[in-house]
Amino acid sequence: MKAVGVLNSLPVTDVSALQDVEIAKPVASGKFLLVKVHAVSVNPVDTKIRMNAGTNLPQPRILGWDCAGVVEAVGEDCSLFKAGDEVFYAGDVTRAGCNGQYHLIDERIVGRKPKTLSFDDAAAMPLTTITAWEALFERMGISKDAAANKGKSILIIGGAGGVGSIAVQLAKKVAGLQVIATASRPQTEQWCRDMGADQVINHREALGDEFKRVGLTGVNYILCLVGTAQHWHGMADVILPQGKLCLIVDTESNQPVNINLFKPKSVSISWEFMFTRSRFQTADIAEQGVLLNEASRLLDAGVLRHTRTEHYGPLNAANLLKAHAKLESGTMVGKLVLNVPQ
Ligand SMILES: NC(=O)c1ccc[n+]([C@@H]2O[C@H](COP(=O)([O-])OP(=O)(O)OC[C@H]3O[C@@H](n4cnc5c(N)ncnc54)[C@H](OP(=O)(O)O)[C@@H]3O)[C@@H](O)[C@H]2O)c1
Repeated sequence: MKAVGVLNSLPVTDVSALQDVEIAKPVASGKFLLVKVHAVSVNPVDTKIRMNAGTNLPQPRILGWDCAGVVEAVGEDCSLFKAGDEVFYAGDVTRAGCNGQYHLIDERIVGRKPKTLSFDDAAAMPLTTITAWEALFERMGISKDAAANKGKSILIIGGAGGVGSIAVQLAKKVAGLQVIATASRPQTEQWCRDMGADQVINHREALGDEFKRVGLTGVNYILCLVGTAQHWHGMADVILPQGKLCLIVDTESNQPVNINLFKPKSVSISWEFMFTRSRFQTADIAEQGVLLNEASRLLDAGVLRHTRTEHYGPLNAANLLKAHAKLESGTMVGKLVLNVPQ
């Protein structure tokens, strides 16, 4: 089958950083579904793995952790899906990704594709939705009952990016929080408002100054999606006593952060990594399938909207490399997708 893979870690400006390859079509077995891929999205994790894959790999490393497609065959231990089902999922970073015509996926981390969305629009959603959902509702323990959150607020740093676009919606439309998002350009500021943000502040300025400018005294929750170290002092400044902070991005080794800044306010600090469940095969791994099905229902009900803004054409090495370049620019608004010609 056709796929796009990495054979040598190269910068995005090198045309051979991604290559069109021919690999064996996988076979469904055990708990794995064989999915015929219809559309894929791209995330910053793809670019990070591309740059760290190594040199002269004996087999191409297939990237891609956002997929919408149709189940072609099921393994002997599968019970949740059957051939012909339309699905969407992010997958497992320890295994081959979905940048090919077919893909094997553990059925426990698969959701039913929203019926009202095209494959292209559905492919934009899974990885970012899992990340935002787990961060808000599991790591920070925010209630999904809006009445229980009355008077509570959240700051979402990086509100217009892939994760931010769905995090703002979940925080506003499901949890009913007052949502303050960050954006640095008129286009991204407007996008955050379109997703449901009540206020938008600029992440190029000090968070404390921005809070004063818009008349805010503090927030109960912070979800930091970009620039953990850059925003560390600002977050300690604007979080309310006994607030909760969730991080999703590593700090660089040359950017140590001082955890003690959060002690006077007794702030709870948590990490979200959406590949934890699949990587460690946790006992609750099937919760990812459950949350994708719930998100699918909310998308079909019109509570949530898809976040696709761009289409980069059919999946091939040249188009995928352009998509990686866009992600690496740090200027993504919502999500981009590529389709797999059927
Ligand atoms: N832990 C996990 O499970 C997990 C899951 C998904 C993603 N991630 C990581 O989370 C990060 C964000 O992912 P994403 O998909 O949302 O990325 P993305 O779509 O590429 O994010 C782009 C957005 O980042 C904003 N931005 C750029 N510089 C910023 C800064 N200094 N401070 C705040 N915002 C800034 C930009 O807004 P402006 O244009 O307005 O500046 C832009 O809209 C990536 O590093 C990714 O690897 C982690």
